[in-house]
Amino acid sequence: MGRKVKKVVLPVAGLGTRFLPATKAVPKELLPVVDRPLVQYAVDEAIEAGIEQIIFVTGRGKGAIEDYFDKAYELEDQLASKQKTKEMESMAGSRHLAGNVTFTRQQEPAGLGHAVWCARHLVGNEPFAVMLPDELLHDTPGCLAQMVEAFEQTEGNIVAVLEVPHEHTNRYGILDPGSRSGALIETKGMVEKPDPNEAPSDLALVGRYVLLPEIFELLESQERGAGGEIQLTDAMAKMIGTHPFHGYHFSGIRYDCGDKVGFLEANVALALRREDLKDRFTEVLDHYLPRE
Ligand code: G1P
Repeated sequence: MGRKVKKVVLPVAGLGTRFLPATKAVPKELLPVVDRPLVQYAVDEAIEAGIEQIIFVTGRGKGAIEDYFDKAYELEDQLASKQKTKEMESMAGSRHLAGNVTFTRQQEPAGLGHAVWCARHLVGNEPFAVMLPDELLHDTPGCLAQMVEAFEQTEGNIVAVLEVPHEHTNRYGILDPGSRSGALIETKGMVEKPDPNEAPSDLALVGRYVLLPEIFELLESQERGAGGEIQLTDAMAKMIGTHPFHGYHFSGIRYDCGDKVGFLEANVALALRREDLKDRFTEVLDHYLPRE
């Protein structure tokens, strides 16, 4: 029997400068999409995929993320005594068995590859997932659940990809694709943030990875790449040819919550999907959108 993916690494050390001043005192990952922090969506997707241990790589000023995943004793006591069960239930996703959510710090902003490497002792010698919570991916089942299932067949590295406009290749890791079978795309190479005229395709990495633990040795000696940072993409590229490597074509809906308009879009789209909000919210939107 193959090895199971039981751990996820969530890098959340970024400064969130694109969302200042909101992120001056509140970590970007806790900004709400409708009424839940952005990071909760990634954690829910991980749990749905069968992940048992959640490893956050945080940085200075991110302590509120630890508080969010802690038991809020006084609050829960108050809600229980007032029989506010709906409010209690709304917090279920932030409650985990003691020891199942762990935190380590990236002490300097040295890049995504370095952030993942910071979790090496917590992951150990087993396959694991990486999720970038800025990327809110909506699908049923969730993107990571689909990838974990694919991993059970390939037992190799898998990265989620989707098409982006050609002129945007310099914002993403880009896949050099080989042959495709269903959602799985053989991978010949990958490059971090190439200029459109050098990009091997328009297939961008969108923040979901299932990786073999051999990545940690490669990250250990990985030199700085695009933007002067230690890039996960560069270390992954070195595994191509020595370990199975596939892109997984994500066919659900992606909201780029690292971008202001993408974040606003996620709020609108998810609010419109909520039975308790959609009628009133549609009326409000109608008011703002001029009709011919
Ligand atoms: C990171 C990765 C990149 C990926 C992107 C997805 O870049 O390095 O390969 O395509 O996330 O959001 P960042 O957005 O942190 O610069």
